[in-house]
Amino acid sequence: MNTQPADADDWVDLGPAEALRDPPLREVVLGRTKIALSCVDGAFGAVSGVCNHAGGPLGEGRLEGAYVECPWHRWKFHHRTGEGEPGFEEDRVPRHEVEVRDGHVWVSRQAATRRHKAPHAPHPLARPLEAHTGALRVLGLSTTNLDPAHPRYSTSQALLVSALDHARLELGCETRRIELAELDFRACEGFYSRSARACTWPCSITQMDPNDRMETVYEGLVHWADVVLVATPIRWGAPSALYFKMVERLNCVQNQITLADKVLIRDKVCGLIITGGQDNVQGVAGQMLGFFAELGFVFPPFPYVAHTRGWSAEDMENNVAYVRRSEELHQGARELAARAARLAQVLRWGAGEVCASRVARGGRKASRPHAPEA
Ligand code: FES
Repeated sequence: MNTQPADADDWVDLGPAEALRDPPLREVVLGRTKIALSCVDGAFGAVSGVCNHAGGPLGEGRLEGAYVECPWHRWKFHHRTGEGEPGFEEDRVPRHEVEVRDGHVWVSRQAATRRHKAPHAPHPLARPLEAHTGALRVLGLSTTNLDPAHPRYSTSQALLVSALDHARLELGCETRRIELAELDFRACEGFYSRSARACTWPCSITQMDPNDRMETVYEGLVHWADVVLVATPIRWGAPSALYFKMVERLNCVQNQITLADKVLIRDKVCGLIITGGQDNVQGVAGQMLGFFAELGFVFPPFPYVAHTRGWSAEDMENNVAYVRRSEELHQGARELAARAARLAQVLRWGAGEVCASRVARGGRKASRPHAPEA
């Protein structure tokens, strides 16, 4: 690359045009300036290589007709003018002069136009966190996969309902329940894998897709709840697929700590309800505790209640019957809600006792030693 001035002191020779036509979009770096150099239908264009949205590398994107599409979240800018796509022309990145002289592509080091970011109303989720002074708020997250049109009895959800009812009716908390199966939300598309900074808060998908309902979970966890109770079945020794789908989308919450030194989950309490026809309760609980701890949640003593009848018990109809009639298990779920609420109270008011001298045995390890069956 010849960086000697040509007829002005600001032009740079990028090299032979023939060599720069393919690939039709590339990043060129001139000192500290990144340029997205493109060639569409034989015409070269040069615009800033830094996207207006979150700084994505436009030169590493792709061409969509005459527009450069950002590889991070697909904002588009005209490859020659730098203007946003139709309807968003005001959102423009700087344009650089580009000319072909004697078979070489020359580009101006200084931009010919200025960057302009059209005002975008901040997403409601981006509002500051606010403490509230009302009753404690308990959010239940049910992650089992139910078909709302053909409901069935879910053991994890049933225990969650008992916990929430107790929180509302006996503890005076406000409660909400989110059933992930009723939320239409997209799987994480791995923006983080392109660049840590491509994973934004609020989530890029939430900002781009008004039909994506993950916003309900973000709102509940980040802005609304003091206590979150997460219920999952055990599926092949792990939490449910819906649980993991949600967890992947929560990466943007955890990522704010990494990228922006911003903790979005503060002084919030998490408790877990885990049920399954087969075992691995401790493995499932460990996975969930690890993730919610990394979000910033704290845990009450005995942070989960669980139930399984063991490796060889595939007779799920009996499992359902067992949970339905087990007052002990439902009491365990109620007391989990109570322990979590007590901790939330201590966090809010700085006084009180979290751990009682006795704990409900239902849902606790070996709560009821089983005699061998005859
Ligand atoms: S679209 Fe370019 S950084 Fe988001």
